[in-house]
Amino acid sequence: MGIDRGSPDPMEFQRKMAEWLRDVISPKPGVVGEDAGEDKPEDKPSSKVRFDLKPEELEAYLDEYVVKQDRAKAVLATKICTHFHRIKMELESPQDPIPGEVKPNILMIGPTGVGKTYIVKLIARKLGVPFVKGDATKFSETGYVGGDVEDLVRDLVREAGGDIELAQYGIIYVDEIDKIASSGTTIGPDVSRTGVQRNLLKLMEETEVDLRVPHDIISQIEAMMQFQRTGRIERKKINTRHILFVMSGAFYGLEEIVRRRLNQQAIGFGVERSLRGKSRMEVLQYVQPEDLIEYGFESEFVGRLPVVVVLDELTVEDLYEILKNPKSSVVQSKKRDFKAYGIDLEFTDVALRRIAERAHRRGTGARALVSVCEEVLLPFEKKLPSTSVRRLTVTEEMTEDPEGELERLLREAPVREFEEEFRKEHGIRLRFSEEALRWIEEESTRRETKPEELCRELLKDYGYGLKLVNAEEFEVTEEVLEDPKGYLDRLIKSFYAKASS
Ligand SMILES: Nc1ncnc2c1ncn2[C@@H]1O[C@H](COP(=O)(O)OP(=O)(O)OP(=O)(O)O)[C@@H](O)[C@H]1O
Ligand SMILES: [Mg+2]
Repeated sequence: MGIDRGSPDPMEFQRKMAEWLRDVISPKPGVVGEDAGEDKPEDKPSSKVRFDLKPEELEAYLDEYVVKQDRAKAVLATKICTHFHRIKMELESPQDPIPGEVKPNILMIGPTGVGKTYIVKLIARKLGVPFVKGDATKFSETGYVGGDVEDLVRDLVREAGGDIELAQYGIIYVDEIDKIASSGTTIGPDVSRTGVQRNLLKLMEETEVDLRVPHDIISQIEAMMQFQRTGRIERKKINTRHILFVMSGAFYGLEEIVRRRLNQQAIGFGVERSLRGKSRMEVLQYVQPEDLIEYGFESEFVGRLPVVVVLDELTVEDLYEILKNPKSSVVQSKKRDFKAYGIDLEFTDVALRRIAERAHRRGTGARALVSVCEEVLLPFEKKLPSTSVRRLTVTEEMTEDPEGELERLLREAPVREFEEEFRKEHGIRLRFSEEALRWIEEESTRRETKPEELCRELLKDYGYGLKLVNAEEFEVTEEVLEDPKGYLDRLIKSFYAKASS
């Protein structure tokens, strides 16, 4: 198939393309085409969705993973389960929708890293519905408002593996929604901000989104292929009626609006309601739709977000809890990283506390846990794979001075190896004291031998000797190393002297 490069002719190109497509597409004998799938015993896509989950089951599932945020967990679990039960009822016995019925789209207010996205993702996973996340600021920045928000819906179909019916029950999460509030002026970015709000509004209510868009080459080729096969152009569409929208943002400045309104009301009713000393998040608990409108949202937009939840800030204790949780992805993923090099990773309790404290100071919620862990572990992750160290316990000292502790660990590694070897051979745990470690280090340098060989040499009689005195554990001190033979003799003598007295 060659196109005459001298005189490119669109008609010729189209003819060749059509020929080629026919070759590619024409069903081979014996192979059933996609379109003949009527009698395939295929699962209804909606059967993958757990429509029948109960609020408390979902809440219990969230409790396994998410620390704190009890109110958010309860409200979201309840409203989302009800949403799916409503769909289920409608599928079973189609009824006319109640006019003006609003689906429980959700607004989540809370600072960074406290679990907003995490909770919704977990819910989608438990329900078996596709989840996509977008960023509200992306829509206004690209300039062509309109097409973009619909991309979220198309992404949902992609996330559902092309299963349009399943995508219809998906969840769309839009972050940084507070950034598309208008600031009250009518020029500049505000026009596009309210534009984005209106476009989202359309999706949040009910609209049909075309799955084929001009700028998506693949979907265009698909359309052409289908045309060749069937002679029809089918417009693939998805209805957004059941798609649930979750909007989230930090909403800085909103608490001032809430405070002002509450104070005015307090004056109006002649009641004293003290908001002084209340934290930002505590004040935000009182947020009302009118506050969101004053913040810069269209009233229709606010009207489509009937569920508002305010999340808690996470304390040091909460961060510590997150690390301690056996389902903590932070700790588990670090363990896995080290395991990939054959190294067992453990954390002491105090080390976890230090990590939580340090992360808390960064003010990015649980997000900082990952970065603090990475900082502490990086030198080890780099160095240990090329050593014989096979076990690492993260200690408090390591969190404070990772490089220094790594150096120490490497210095001590030969002795630790000897301890391990001795335990395997004799079943007795040796423990070298700090001074003993230093002594071995200096002495092996002086004698120009390896530390582990020096240990083997000096303590060669100890396997037998310590068994004579029924020792299960033994501390190797400087005194032992300076005169191993004499020390062991005295030990054995005094053991038998005691035994016979
Ligand atoms: N309350 C929590 N309990 C357990 N883990 C949490 C909690 N909050 C956050 N995490 C952990 O931190 C990660 C980041 O949290 P998440 O993505 O939910 O933040 P966010 O609240 O959506 O913040 P942002 O506004 O920055 O997107 C999660 O993947 C999870 O591992
Ligand atoms: Mg998030």
